[in-house]
This record gives sequence, structure tokens and C-alpha cells, in this order.
Amino acid sequence: MISSDHSKFLVGNYAQPAIEIVRGKGTKVWDSEGKEYLDFTTGIAVTNLGHSHPHWIHSVTDQANEMVHCSNLFSIPEQVRLAKRLVEKIGPGKLIFCNSGAEANEGLLKLARLVGNKQGTQPKHKIVVADNGFHGRTLGALSATASPKYRTGFEPLLPFFDFVPLNDIQAFDKAIDSETSAVLVESIQGEGGIYEAEDHFLQELAAICTARKVLLLLDEVQAGIGRTGEFLGFQKSGILPHAVAMAKGLGGGFPIGAIWIGEQYADTFGAGSHGTTFGGSPLACSAANAVLDVIEEEDLIAKTKRKGEYLKEKLLQFIPKYPALAHEVRGRGLMLALALKLDPSPIVQQLRDSGLLVVGAGGYAIRFLPPLNVQEEEIDHAIHIVDTIFSNFELNEVSS
Ligand SMILES: Cc1ncc(COP(=O)(O)O)c(C=O)c1O
Repeated sequence: MISSDHSKFLVGNYAQPAIEIVRGKGTKVWDSEGKEYLDFTTGIAVTNLGHSHPHWIHSVTDQANEMVHCSNLFSIPEQVRLAKRLVEKIGPGKLIFCNSGAEANEGLLKLARLVGNKQGTQPKHKIVVADNGFHGRTLGALSATASPKYRTGFEPLLPFFDFVPLNDIQAFDKAIDSETSAVLVESIQGEGGIYEAEDHFLQELAAICTARKVLLLLDEVQAGIGRTGEFLGFQKSGILPHAVAMAKGLGGGFPIGAIWIGEQYADTFGAGSHGTTFGGSPLACSAANAVLDVIEEEDLIAKTKRKGEYLKEKLLQFIPKYPALAHEVRGRGLMLALALKLDPSPIVQQLRDSGLLVVGAGGYAIRFLPPLNVQEEEIDHAIHIVDTIFSNFELNEVSS
């Protein structure tokens, strides 16, 4: 039962929730009435280690006993350690820490401005982004987000964004002109419905950006931190962008965002040019370091690849079995979507009532985002719940 205080005291910017989640352990969560659920939402690709991983709890608790926050007026050992580890995983460069995905993308947009303003005699302000992308709700990140669903009512947004279809290299090639400072894309569009940027598209885009001295910026906020079976989604294509935004899975549930800037542009931001009070606090960085420890120690990236293939294979079986309902499986690793032929909302509700939490996405899709350490039996159980709901749904709704 949701308390009536919910809508009385909270602004209605989120859809009214149906349940109250109060506890979690691994892939399972419990609501306030004691009902158990399999959590294949992970708080929208955030709790990548599952809930309450013992190593994460120890690290965060120990750090809370030492120092929670001191600001970037001082050097923070956990922050330096995290930055070094991220550079080792991504490539030569430097880090700025922040608190969310939208804020990380704001940092990328500001990098594009600084670089574009310095180039040549004519400043370059245009940024080319993909149709159907999602980069966050702050005004800059929203301006880079195409869908009217998010933009309507907030106009006028920032000018100088050009929207072109993902994977259409000719369209990107045409849109990138002498006024373009940067290109910003997701390696897998998450909110848009799990649409992958193809390897050859990213490779050709990287070549065009290098040739024309345009920044290639990757938004890895949802696809990053092991979720796709690579540390960052674009790494499958073998490219190295100029800068990358990360957040969500990085803190395993504790808010932290980060911008990695490759060495060519790593010193673009001078002292005082950018920052945030909470960015890279000792507590946030200890949470992120704990996430990296577990990813390394439990070999989670290789496991994500394997379990992702297992889950994908099971989801693919629904297409011939329920042709009136399901028509495509998209994504890789544990960032998968089952695309439906109808609005997934009633199915998402029925899955929840049957003990499986999943989240919808654009393009009539249901997203499956379990923790990276999900067990095979938990995948089987989730698939069994989907199968049961689909068979009843097909019988009752589709055939009526
Ligand atoms: C690809 C991508 N970028 C940015 C964001 C915004 O992140 P946040 O909600 O942490 O601001 C999201 C959130 O869903 C996202 O999926």
C-alpha cells in the first residue's frame, strides 16, 4: 500500500508508484507488505552488484567512519585511486567527478563549448546528436535529447543541436560541418528502447570526427560499467572517443557521475572553470571503488557476456511462441529489451504482480536489466514468470 502522504508531499513528476520497496538482497527485493520480487530493473541499471553486496557495504561503512565529505578544496585519496583505475580501464586521460548522468553530460557539452570556442577564427558551436537518444533532464542534456516526450513545455531549449538517425553514417557525415564542435551518442540507446550503435557506424564516425577535428563524445551513463559485457559499451567497436560520460552503475547505488577526457583534451578545463560541491566525495568514490573491486574479483564482465547470451536466447524463444505479442530482442550483455507489438505497460504491471520487476522503454519495449551477478536460476525464474503472463495475456487480451 502506498501512503496517501506520497502524493500529498511529493511532486507528481514521476508516475504514481504501485508498491513501496523497503529491502533488497542480491537480485531480490521486498515491498512493505513482505512480498518478494526478482529485481530486473536494478534501479534502472544502477545496482549492478545487486542489492547490499557485502564488499560494497564494508567499503562504504568503513569510509563513512573515516570521512564522508570534505570537498574538492582538498585532495581525496579515494578519488585519485578511482580516477587512476578508470584511466586504466578506458585509456590515457583524466577524470572529473560529478553526481549524475545528466550532470556528466553537461560536462561533455561544456567541454565541446570550450574546445569549439578556441578552434580557428570562427567559433564552432554545433553538436550533432542521434534521434531517439536520451541524455538527461537538465536543460543542456535535455537540449541534446530529441524526443518531444521529454522536451515539450521546456522550450526554448539550447540551440545548435542537430538530430540525425543513429547508424546512418551518411546523415552524420552530412550534418558534421565547419560549425560542428562535437558529436554525442550513446553506444546503446537505453531509454529510447535498447538500440545499438553498430560497430562499423562507430568506427566510421570516429574516423570522420578525427579527420574533421570534431570531438567524439560517448554517453555511457546507462550502457557503461560492465552492463553490456564490456567495461564501456563502445569498447566492443575498438574505438576511443575524446570524452565519455558515466554514472548509474558506477556507484552501485550511491550517486556518482564521471567524465573521462582523453589526453588530447584532458587539460581543457582550467582551475575554476567547472566543478560541483559533492563531486567525487570520499564516500561516493569508495562506493565506486568497491564496484570496480567486485567487477574485477568476480570476473563480472565475462559473466555478464555469458549470462546475457543465456537470457537473450531465452527471450528469443518468445518470438515464435507468442507472435501476436513479441517481435524482437535487442541489445547485448545484460542490457536487453524484448520489443512488443503493443504498449507494454499492462504486461509490466502483471509481471510485477507476479513477482518480476522490469521497466519499459521507448519503442514498445520491456527492458531486462538484472544485476551483473544474477544467477542462472534467477534468469530461469524470471523467464518462467514472463512465459506465464504472456500465455494468459495472449489468451485473454490479444485474442479477445
Ligand atoms: C544514456 C543516459 N544518459 C543520461 C541519463 C541521465 O542520467 P541521470 O538520470 O543520472 O541524470 C540517462 C538516464 O536514464 C541515460 O540513460
